Amino acid sequence: MTTTFDATPVVGVSGSPGATSRSRTLLEGALSALERYGTRTRRLDLAGLPADALLGRRQDPAVTDALAAVQGARIIVVSTPVYRATYSGLLKVFFDLLPQDALAGKVAVAIATGATAAHFLAIDHGLHPLLASVGAVVVATAVYGVDSQFRDGAPDAALLQRVDRAAAEAAALAGLVPALEA
Ligand SMILES: Cc1cc2nc3c(=O)[nH]c(=O)nc-3n(C[C@H](O)[C@H](O)[C@H](O)COP(=O)(O)O)c2cc1C
Repeated sequence: MTTTFDATPVVGVSGSPGATSRSRTLLEGALSALERYGTRTRRLDLAGLPADALLGRRQDPAVTDALAAVQGARIIVVSTPVYRATYSGLLKVFFDLLPQDALAGKVAVAIATGATAAHFLAIDHGLHPLLASVGAVVVATAVYGVDSQFRDGAPDAALLQRVDRAAAEAAALAGLVPALEA
């Protein structure tokens, strides 16, 4: 996973509480795609962090480390299941702990999965404003998967293509490769 010490740091944030997770699978795909651009990636599973620290009731080294990792990244990939027509509460409480402008100038990729296509605008109405509120620049290609696009936990080819495209846009925006041609 780690390439070199000075490789561009990429942090993936998984907002699913599930032990097995479709959105986390897409996140892993995006991180793998970004590693092909020579980046160094790290995945944060918010579900593994202590809940009372995530709720701000106390400090915890694991949460402090996760917040620092996100702020030290050049590219952030965020994945979430759609819950009640928007991103998960787990993602919300984590972002609430970030200081204002914590992701200023960073490039972000937004990934969500839902039971049906009905809530695909959760990316545009939920995840984009969330990321923009802390200063991130979100790539144009949103990745939204529906549960029927997964077989035995694996995403279909169309979804993987979206993941690769979003990763390519992030690499271009972060200056890792020349900008994509139209
Ligand atoms: C509490 C809860 C609320 C949900 N709300 C929605 C919803 O509003 N819209 C939707 O399309 N899917 C909804 N779902 C389905 C999940 O978003 C969907 O199964 C998703 O792929 C799960 O992602 P994960 O496997 O990464 O956890 C909900 C599931 C749960 C458990």
